Amino acid sequence: MSKLTETYELSNGVKIPKIGFGTWQVPNGQVAYDAVTEALSQGYRHIDTAWQYGNEESVGRAIRDSGLNREDVFVTSKLAAAAKSYDAAMKTFDETMDRIGLDYLDLYLIHAPWPWDEMGADYSTQNIEVWQAMEDIYKTGKVRAIGISNFNVADQKNILKHATIMPMVNQIQYYIGYTEPDITVYAQDHNMLVEAFSPLATGYLLNNEAVKDIAAHYDVSVAQLAIRYVLQHGLLPLPKATNSAHIENNKQVEFEISVADMAVLDKLKDTAPGEDHNG
Ligand SMILES: NC(=O)c1ccc[n+]([C@@H]2O[C@H](COP(=O)([O-])OP(=O)(O)OC[C@H]3O[C@@H](n4cnc5c(N)ncnc54)[C@H](OP(=O)(O)O)[C@@H]3O)[C@@H](O)[C@H]2O)c1
Repeated sequence: MSKLTETYELSNGVKIPKIGFGTWQVPNGQVAYDAVTEALSQGYRHIDTAWQYGNEESVGRAIRDSGLNREDVFVTSKLAAAAKSYDAAMKTFDETMDRIGLDYLDLYLIHAPWPWDEMGADYSTQNIEVWQAMEDIYKTGKVRAIGISNFNVADQKNILKHATIMPMVNQIQYYIGYTEPDITVYAQDHNMLVEAFSPLATGYLLNNEAVKDIAAHYDVSVAQLAIRYVLQHGLLPLPKATNSAHIENNKQVEFEISVADMAVLDKLKDTAPGEDHNG
């Protein structure tokens, strides 16, 4: 079985394919439609989008046109980071469902604990209200699992203290050299699956000489090594690619990084100068 169809199991029993296909910065229209169509035809079964990406319409259309059964594709979208009230959350969820044109989502995440133009600001009170909306959306059956993204330890504690349905996923920035151990361990200790966004550091990791050397040792690309690294740590990588050769390359991760090389990779720092961090 390939990593595209092998699954992790979320705390509510929902199964989620181990590699997701990222779509950030993939423009709505032909580019997003073609990228998702190509990914699905190459065997990807998990697509990650967001209200913020502006491409839910094309992503949804590619899924509907793929000929695949809806239950064979795992679809994630995310609530706009600026939606910080119960009503705003409900409104953007409805917009997402209208745009994507599917009967349900498999996973729905709060995109960030703060609006993008106020990164790091304290929205803990509002996030409790937004989580209440997430729980109510979950109870309608229109989403099969709910979670959070970009939530640090304090943000996670805030939700857990007030939630009646616990988040099942935390999606965070995670790549060789930037692994956010406190956030990861806290989430995993509280039954969340951690998803690794920007597993290639939005491309900035690809020219790192130390990582290149190790990848060469396994006769794989830096991208393949980076995706495999995430999987060997028990996280779920979300590589983005629009180039079909990249889409093909990123699914071939059936090799094993040795314990010694994992330890070397774990110690690397500043592997992706130029990459931004969300907080
Ligand atoms: N929750 C959040 O706040 C958040 C934030 C950032 C990202 N994400 C999610 O995580 C996904 C991935 O992160 P990302 O978009 O930052 O990018 P990424 O996956 O870290 O890197 C993508 C870049 O690497 C290139 N690439 C991909 N495969 C390659 C290969 N095999 N060889 C050489 N180059 C390759 C892509 O080029 P081409 O496109 O030309 O193929 C693109 O330039 C996003 O798309 C999104 O779904 C979530």
